[in-house]
Amino acid sequence: MRKIAILTCALVALCLSAHCEPHPHSPLDSPTREAVQKPDEVVTLANIQEGMVVADVGAGTGYFESRLSRAVGPRGRVLAVDIEADLVSQMKARFAREGLVNVKAKLGTPDDPGLPASGVDRILLVDTWHHLQNRSAFAQTLRKALKPTGQLVIVDYTLEAPVGPPAAMRLSPDTVIQELEAVGLRARVVPETLPNQYVIVAEGSAP
Ligand SMILES: C[S@@+](CC[C@H](N)C(=O)[O-])C[C@H]1O[C@@H](n2cnc3c(N)ncnc32)[C@H](O)[C@@H]1O
Repeated sequence: MRKIAILTCALVALCLSAHCEPHPHSPLDSPTREAVQKPDEVVTLANIQEGMVVADVGAGTGYFESRLSRAVGPRGRVLAVDIEADLVSQMKARFAREGLVNVKAKLGTPDDPGLPASGVDRILLVDTWHHLQNRSAFAQTLRKALKPTGQLVIVDYTLEAPVGPPAAMRLSPDTVIQELEAVGLRARVVPETLPNQYVIVAEGSAP
């Protein structure tokens, strides 16, 4: 299942480029990705303040981390979690190379990203929700990690997008909202200009 997830991830990222060009590093870091992924817009929608603790769950190669690092500033902290040990090693090397001292790469398990209880202001999952095996339990776990004013931000492919995961893996925004509300979160789709994805923001930490 993990191998399928990684393969899908790589294929999705490859197809993010209109010409499906190979990239010398990871396709997730292809320079052509920025135009369609709009990472600055995603970070703005996450409404991150200086000093916050932000978790990027399913961080992959750490594509979002330089932006998240800047957004939280020197007093804040970014936890970049992935379940693939190779990716976590790559992220550690990348963060050291880029001097991202407030970002930590962390190995999670498929059921638990290992976030501190009631300790995270923002949890970001980009192109990752549809990979999760048990989304209900995972949503519960994320809810417990949110601070009382915390928010969960999910970015994933629309059913209609011309690129993205196989149709059978895609989830409509309504389905994701139902999954989040089933564990007590309040969730809504927020306006954005991403060509192929929707953005959902959820809040309501565990009592
Ligand atoms: C499509 S990639 C997206 C990577 C990154 N978010 C980005 O936008 O560049 C999905 C990532 O989610 C990771 N993943 C899948 N299931 C996971 C889980 N249960 N917990 C944490 N990461 C997971 C995969 O290993 C993969 O790196």
